[in-house]
Amino acid sequence: MRLFTAIDLPVGPRLRLERLLSVLRPEAPIKWSPLDNLHITTKFIGEWPEHRLNEIHDALSQLAPREPFEISLRDLGWYPNERAPRVLWLGVHASPDLTALVQQVETRLEALGVAREERPFSPHLTLARIKNPAPLQALRQKIERLQPADLGQFRVAHFSLFRSDPGSNASIYRKLRDYRLEAALAAR
Ligand code: 2AM
Repeated sequence: MRLFTAIDLPVGPRLRLERLLSVLRPEAPIKWSPLDNLHITTKFIGEWPEHRLNEIHDALSQLAPREPFEISLRDLGWYPNERAPRVLWLGVHASPDLTALVQQVETRLEALGVAREERPFSPHLTLARIKNPAPLQALRQKIERLQPADLGQFRVAHFSLFRSDPGSNASIYRKLRDYRLEAALAAR
């Protein structure tokens, strides 16, 4: 099975994203992410044997407790760059708590044999993928007018383990478990 951990979006930011996407979508014939697929990936685990799922679950359940933190969603950008874009993203701005959480997950999962991410952590929401050459002029202009495309902030109190399966159009992401950041604090 293919696994990853991510922060899911609460209903408020999800609705604001839906509005943003409905403004952007008509401007370019590219592969727009289905709203239900949007999440902030915190760790891409990749292929993992199903009979060892409990090991991932135990590791994620036993992270050090931490206080919830705030995340802001704003700034539209292109990856890897504006000239030859493959992804349109919305920026994710968070306190160092988010990076600390990601580092802790990396360390715990590395002990199980999950490859450590070599690239620096750069949190984002993938709004669309550009697989084939497409006219982007209208979309670029719309984005310029919308910047910083501020969708406000929300409080993160848990993250989740997801499995990813191929779908006919986009991948299908299914949530397997939630992990509360404060779980161990609450248990004290
Ligand atoms: P993306 O949205 O930036 O492409 C499930 O596939 C999630 O894991 C996606 O959010 C995707 O991030 C991320 N992901 C997929 N393949 C990856 C890889 N090889 N390395 C890192 N992240 C990956």
